[in-house]
Amino acid sequence: MRLRDGALTLTLLDYLRLTERATGTKEGCAEGDCGACTVVLRRSVGGGFVYQPVNACILLAGQADGADVITVEDLADGATLHPVQQAMVEQHGSQCGFCTPGFIMALFALYHAQRDAPLDRAAVNDWIAGNLCRCTGYRPIVDAALASCGGVATDRFATQEAEAARALAAIDGEDDVFAGSDERFFAAPASIPALAALYAKHPDAVLVGGATDVGLWITKQFHELAKIIWLGRVRGLDAIDDVADAITFGATASHEAAIPHLAAIDPDLGELMRRFAGKQIRSVGTIGGNIANGSPIGDTPPALIALGATLALQKGDVVRRIPLEDFFLAYGKQDRTASEFVRAVQVPKLKVDERFRCYKISKRFDQDISAVMGAFKVTLAGARIAAARIAFGGMAATPKRALAAEAALAGADLGDAGSWQAALAALADDFSPITDQRASADYRRDVVRALLRKALMETAGAATHRTRVVGIRETADAAAS
Ligand SMILES: Cc1cc2nc3c(=O)[nH]c(=O)nc-3n(C[C@H](O)[C@H](O)[C@H](O)COP(=O)(O)OP(=O)(O)OC[C@H]3O[C@@H](n4cnc5c(N)ncnc54)[C@H](O)[C@@H]3O)c2cc1C
Ligand code: FES
Ligand code: FES
Repeated sequence: MRLRDGALTLTLLDYLRLTERATGTKEGCAEGDCGACTVVLRRSVGGGFVYQPVNACILLAGQADGADVITVEDLADGATLHPVQQAMVEQHGSQCGFCTPGFIMALFALYHAQRDAPLDRAAVNDWIAGNLCRCTGYRPIVDAALASCGGVATDRFATQEAEAARALAAIDGEDDVFAGSDERFFAAPASIPALAALYAKHPDAVLVGGATDVGLWITKQFHELAKIIWLGRVRGLDAIDDVADAITFGATASHEAAIPHLAAIDPDLGELMRRFAGKQIRSVGTIGGNIANGSPIGDTPPALIALGATLALQKGDVVRRIPLEDFFLAYGKQDRTASEFVRAVQVPKLKVDERFRCYKISKRFDQDISAVMGAFKVTLAGARIAAARIAFGGMAATPKRALAAEAALAGADLGDAGSWQAALAALADDFSPITDQRASADYRRDVVRALLRKALMETAGAATHRTRVVGIRETADAAAS
């Protein structure tokens, strides 16, 4: 698909349904929650293909630039259903059918996913966490996934990949893309200098990473966005540089791409990201967007702050670096000047004497925004806590460190819960939370104390047994209890 002039904020869903009249793709919520609008973007990456499930309802049509847009209409080969469609029929995976095209497309992406572990029910549940069905129940849908996915893809999309690669290569040679006029445009710069120059010229433009926030401004708040700079074509801005002691995530690194790197720092980060929205949102939502939006309830900022991350901001060709926590000034206000953009975030890996825990508290397990998100890093000197970094989301107008609790924890004995009490009490000095639809202030006050205690208890268990190895924490902790 190529960018077109006009209708610059057209969503991919509206383009498909209203322009292409491809009405198999449904609109349920128009806010990325239900998955009824799932389509697959096939992109050529590093000599292979990735099949990204995305929510067409909040994706701008321009974001499909350079990708094959595969919809439910494309799957059957004449009268022969695609294997995932056939499995849904055989497993009785559909009743009213409204959610079915979305599930089919999520399963189609799973059918093409490169997996290094066998497919089981838990993995399928994670995969379809971004799809809701109100009538069939999920068991037959999971059965259909298990019956059709997890092996080597042999459908015609797999057998015709060479042809598709040639077609995509033929349209992907352009440099910067600009559709519209100086007053109204959708632009997709292809390099960091081009982005910096364009943003300097148009400081009033809206930067778009995955549009998993910005898309809702359009579909739910009916904002008219006149100037859009989409970052998805900027070469190198999505780079993930994983070296011995730190990982640098380029601003447009997707959550999905970041997961294995974060999980290797600590399994809690992998678990956090498993519960970050659903596959469709994680496929396009970016680490930079999760920071730049300044949300007090974004999931990655508290975790990255606790780890001691540094944010790189760029304006023109000047890059400045600040501690991530200093970026968040007040509700809706970040330390970012006109034409400055988030370039990258550098995250130190844990040192030998450091332990990390993080927990997401939300009303639903899957696909839900945090009520509270807590992250904890302690530096040990034997059984003593030499230093701590504690950060919470959902407790203040910004993601925020618990400085009083951190100070009170210094010198505490991991083996003596009594010595933690001052830190637990100090959390009351650190935060004055509000009551909103996600949680009451009282609940929030209670839960942060419980999370700190949990983090210390788990750390004490792991420290005592010294057998904690990434990936088998449960075994070590069970032994400790
Ligand atoms: C259904 C659903 C579930 C979600 N679940 C979660 C969740 O579990 N946890 C969570 O934390 N969030 C969640 N979100 C919110 C959202 O997905 C994340 O905040 C995401 O990381 C935003 O990234 P993006 O690239 O899509 O941002 P965009 O929507 O593209 O942009 C967000 C903001 O950041 C600005 N921006 C983007 N990139 C840059 C940059 N490089 N420099 C400067 N400014 C920039 C944009 O101008 C905009 O103001 C959810 C959203 C939806 C719709
Ligand atoms: S219509 Fe519900 S996620 Fe798009
Ligand atoms: S079959 Fe009716 S909503 Fe899923």
